[in-house]
Amino acid sequence: MSIHIEAAKGQIADTILLPGDPLRAKWIADNFLENPEQYNSVRNMFGYTGLYQGKRISVQGTGMGIPSISIYVNELFSEYNVQTAIRVGTCGGLKGTDIRDLVIAMTASTDSYHNRRYMNLDYAPHANYELLEGAVKAARAKGVNYHVGAVATMDLFYDPNKNTLDLLEEHGVLALEMETSALYTLAARYGRRALTICTVSDHVRSGEQTPASERETGFRTMVELALAAALEG
Ligand code: HPA
Repeated sequence: MSIHIEAAKGQIADTILLPGDPLRAKWIADNFLENPEQYNSVRNMFGYTGLYQGKRISVQGTGMGIPSISIYVNELFSEYNVQTAIRVGTCGGLKGTDIRDLVIAMTASTDSYHNRRYMNLDYAPHANYELLEGAVKAARAKGVNYHVGAVATMDLFYDPNKNTLDLLEEHGVLALEMETSALYTLAARYGRRALTICTVSDHVRSGEQTPASERETGFRTMVELALAAALEG
């Protein structure tokens, strides 16, 4: 047991998918895993382990934002020896993206102080290349609209400073989300592999949102890419 996860050692697989929403974790377990076993319900942050195409895979909700995901990822890496962590989430699209597109995050800038608390410099958190390549191959094979590039992991969902968006777009950042910079930095710190795949659920500039009726299909595609990357990478 760790502070926030009640699983016994060995109940969590080497490879884990990390949605922010714990009910999405349940949905992934119900729709993709054979014989899923629930190993966590502390704070209703559900976690499950099952089989996908013969490989043991876990899925764990992380909550929103760096403080929340970093608690779960620290415990998964340090207490449960997880080797590969793939975040499957949503993001706000910036210039060059459309709603429903997938963004595979090569790197993540941030306005959070998280990384500086570890190292007194601007560390450049990056995805694991094999996982990234696996996800890109799967995206090409499926013919979905995808982008590979930079995201920004922001502490403010409701940011009154619109200038930030201009600057990020001018530097080629594709989308906003709230977790990846910490996930990648923690993976580097523990010598593990990480990747984020996210669906553009809303466009930050136009305000356009994916209709609720389509969200499940978009989420399913993203999970398929993540699982393909997990099997291949
Ligand atoms: N900002 C940050 N994170 C997000 C957004 C956003 O607009 N949309 C989905 N996740």
